[in-house]
Amino acid sequence: MDENTDLKLLGFIVERLEVGILAIDPQFRVVLWNRFMETHSGRDLDSMRGQCLFESFPELPERWLRRKIESVFELGNYSFTSWEQRPYLFRFQHNRPITGGVDAMRQNCTFLPLRDASGVVRLVVLTLSDYTDTALIQQKLTAAMAVSDEERRKQRALLRRLQDAKAQLFQSEKLASIGQLAAGVAHEINNPVGFVTSNLGSLERYLIDLTTLIESYASHADQLPPAAAEAVRRQREKLDYDFIREDLGALIRESREGLDHIRRIILDLKDFTRVDQSGWQLADLEKAFDSTLNVVWNELKYKATIVKDYRHPPQVECIPGQINQVLMNLLVNAGHALGEKGEITLRTGPDPSEVTGAVAEVWVEVEDDGCGISVEHQKRIFDPFFTTKPVGQGTGLGLSVSYNIIRRHGGRIDVRSTVGVGTCFRLTLPVQRSEVADAVSESPDLAAEVTPEELLALEGPDGA
Ligand SMILES: Nc1ncnc2c1ncn2[C@@H]1O[C@H](COP(=O)(O)OP(=O)(O)OP(=O)(O)O)[C@@H](O)[C@H]1O
Ligand SMILES: [Mg+2]
Repeated sequence: MDENTDLKLLGFIVERLEVGILAIDPQFRVVLWNRFMETHSGRDLDSMRGQCLFESFPELPERWLRRKIESVFELGNYSFTSWEQRPYLFRFQHNRPITGGVDAMRQNCTFLPLRDASGVVRLVVLTLSDYTDTALIQQKLTAAMAVSDEERRKQRALLRRLQDAKAQLFQSEKLASIGQLAAGVAHEINNPVGFVTSNLGSLERYLIDLTTLIESYASHADQLPPAAAEAVRRQREKLDYDFIREDLGALIRESREGLDHIRRIILDLKDFTRVDQSGWQLADLEKAFDSTLNVVWNELKYKATIVKDYRHPPQVECIPGQINQVLMNLLVNAGHALGEKGEITLRTGPDPSEVTGAVAEVWVEVEDDGCGISVEHQKRIFDPFFTTKPVGQGTGLGLSVSYNIIRRHGGRIDVRSTVGVGTCFRLTLPVQRSEVADAVSESPDLAAEVTPEELLALEGPDGA
């Protein structure tokens, strides 16, 4: 091919390329204007040639574009702008009907210096590529991503609510089964304890009768033949009858005390679970402490010294079974924190004598001198399933359940703790059932807020 053919070919390509190509001289006059530019601007080369670009297209960002082109003339550098920074130079329509909020053709532009034989830049060639399709796709992608982000956020929130709901469910099941178990055990023990107590009464009377009878035989011992009297005396010595007679009284007394103790434990258990009275009522928090302490005593007795600092605050309106549950969680946690041995202090307040006017709030504290809780963990102890205990020892629900119970009572739980020194949990409860408590307890429970559809959506089509 000769040079002429080459030039023709080049001209053909410039004309037919789906890219806008124009060349500008140092006075911003148009020198070249290809078919793409003709089609989209509605101006042909003849009408454009020699025209100042900015006079023909007032919509161009003149100051910016002038500086850009001048710098290419001066420095001879290649320059580029992308549609993402500057959506377009020429306000052209897009080839296809414009949709999705794209108002004009998006353009990537290049600025190329064209030098003469001596290396001086004579013209700047500007190319415009249509990036509208990419822009539209990106717009759709961004919208889709926003939707999926929102979807993910909803799923995370739903998951959190489900976990909470699960914890609540677990809590009520746990409470119910503890209550049933305790009530069942108490009932079962009550019957044998009843007849053992009554039998013990009869036994005591019979023993008194028997010893009276023996004493009366003894008073006639001198009327026996000497050999028989001697045999009876020896038998009496061998069996240590005098000791038996004295010890019998003590044995009966101790057995009665034992039975009393069992009866108290049964009462405490019944009191603790309050299966018979589950609603709101006035309760003495010190009594609640004592009966709960008896219930968990087995866990604490070998390691904890219990110190009570009771100031006899007024009774509070509460659901006693639930408050007992909270006290139990705090006592068991304190016991775990002690390790080998330590002290647990139970405090109540305020001291009514120090209060002027009506008491609005009552507080109780469980303080231990155990391992303490790090600041990092203090932020998380009320989260469901947060536990530092080995698998099988803690579910991490005690405090989250307690938190919810106290919240439902319109009260609060505060914690002070220093690692290596100990921890103090304080429950503060309004003396009178508050509006907050009513609002919270009347709000639909969390489990009910999650619809079956939401659950299915969470689990995925194959339940994964
Ligand atoms: N008195 C305390 N001293 C030290 N750490 C405590 C104390 N009370 C709670 N914690 C910390 O808070 C965590 C959460 O307590 P929470 O009662 O909610 O769950 P748990 O005791 O681990 O399990 P469970 O569900 O059996 O109660 C515990 O694992 C423990 O790390
Ligand atoms: Mg616990």
